[in-house]
Amino acid sequence: MSIAVNPPPSLRSFPISRSPITRSPRVTMVLRSSPPAALPILTKLQNDCATPLPLLRNIADAMAVEMRAGLAVDGGSDLKMILSYVDFLPTGNERGLFYALDLGGTNFRVLRTQLGGRDERVIATEFEQVSIPQDLMCGTSEELFDFIASALAKFVKKEGGKFILPNGRSRETGFTFSFPVKQTSIDSGILIKWTKGFSVSGTPGKDIVVCLNEAMGRQGLDMRVSALVNDTVATLAGARYWDNDVMVAVILGTGTNACYVESVEAIPKLQGHKSSSGKTIINTEWGAFSNGLPLTEYDREMDAESINPGEQLFEKTISGMYLGEIVRRVLVRMAETGSLFGKHIPEKLQTPFALGTPNISSMQQDTSEDLEAVGSILYEVTGVDSNLDVRKMVVEVCDTIAKRGGRLAGAGIVGILQKMEQDSKGVVFGKRMVVAMDGGLYEHYPQYKRYLKEAVAEILGPELSSHVVIEHSKDGSGIGAALLAATNSIFEH
Ligand code: BGC
Repeated sequence: MSIAVNPPPSLRSFPISRSPITRSPRVTMVLRSSPPAALPILTKLQNDCATPLPLLRNIADAMAVEMRAGLAVDGGSDLKMILSYVDFLPTGNERGLFYALDLGGTNFRVLRTQLGGRDERVIATEFEQVSIPQDLMCGTSEELFDFIASALAKFVKKEGGKFILPNGRSRETGFTFSFPVKQTSIDSGILIKWTKGFSVSGTPGKDIVVCLNEAMGRQGLDMRVSALVNDTVATLAGARYWDNDVMVAVILGTGTNACYVESVEAIPKLQGHKSSSGKTIINTEWGAFSNGLPLTEYDREMDAESINPGEQLFEKTISGMYLGEIVRRVLVRMAETGSLFGKHIPEKLQTPFALGTPNISSMQQDTSEDLEAVGSILYEVTGVDSNLDVRKMVVEVCDTIAKRGGRLAGAGIVGILQKMEQDSKGVVFGKRMVVAMDGGLYEHYPQYKRYLKEAVAEILGPELSSHVVIEHSKDGSGIGAALLAATNSIFEH
């Protein structure tokens, strides 16, 4: 059993069904009363997942400590604190036609934008989304990049209308690649490892831009990658284009990560890299954080059975790929030892990833008296009818896992802000500071988002948190990559 073979259906966005789910005719097995035997399992889960203020404070402090350790020396911390080589963020003066390619999970996007400088800003944008076939996520590097380059080539052929490439210029693209990459320059970087269920052979250790260039060559596509960026970095750039106070970006989708604006003198491991702005963006790769997390037996089992045991523990506790799976594992235990679904353990429920994070979010949005939508989803997932007590218990489980995830993510954000504040004394907490957020989990799970914001306010207190604006920057990563392609263009713009 492995996480790689059963990743959830979507990348950074997932739909939440709001309309009643229609059911097909079936053989019904009605559960008549709620088994009290499942209650102690819920109580233990709630205790194990508790995130009281002192624990959140410890997480935030530990995040700040790990950040420093990762900045001191490569390998000094779970947090890789990767240099992005993005020393200049978009200013609004960018002009011209730029492309972006955004690969981060089971979908990828191609985008083009025509930038008109300070007055006209974004004149036009077009994009297409293509889903990556399951087999390519575990195939060879060449197959994956050929697929991407071919979609890009088809998209380029449709260029026209408001999109104009000046004579004598070749097309340039930003490449958002949302996996841990050791950047070697703004337009090159080595894949450290795959995450989020990808397991493509032949790519780790290779320069991602070379892989893409070779594939574009095979497609006869003449395009230059002028910026290779992580999705957090692209999101920060995209949000900064509209708002100068954006200093941090966080992705909470299938996977999770954060980046922020750092002063070069605060990066001891930075040798030989000069930044004339004195600043650079650091990609923390916080998904690998592990210090002091309140983990349960379900987390440990899921991790042990994953394709990357012992890795990405923060990501496995707070991100969209895993929340539904943790809930499923709790429900299996409740079925086994608490007879939650009657005498039998529903077979369908035993399939890893049978319950997705979109499902648990949908269940939490059900405000009907008899929790009809919860019943429908449970029926879809287990093949068993449930009574109201069972439904309520399932919603409690979802809430417990979402609450832990949201609050820990909030503590992580405070950790970054604390680190920035410690170095800059009053510059961070004394003025408006924007954290740009993106990702389907953040966008489509209202309870999760609420827990995150509450935790930030709780840790910082009312005065400091009043300066912190946590703002959704929808799809900033696509346009952000195109903007960074412009900022790093070899042509005058
Ligand atoms: C990757 C990060 C990425 C994040 C969000 C993680 O699994 O390691 O590079 O930014 O997912 O997409």
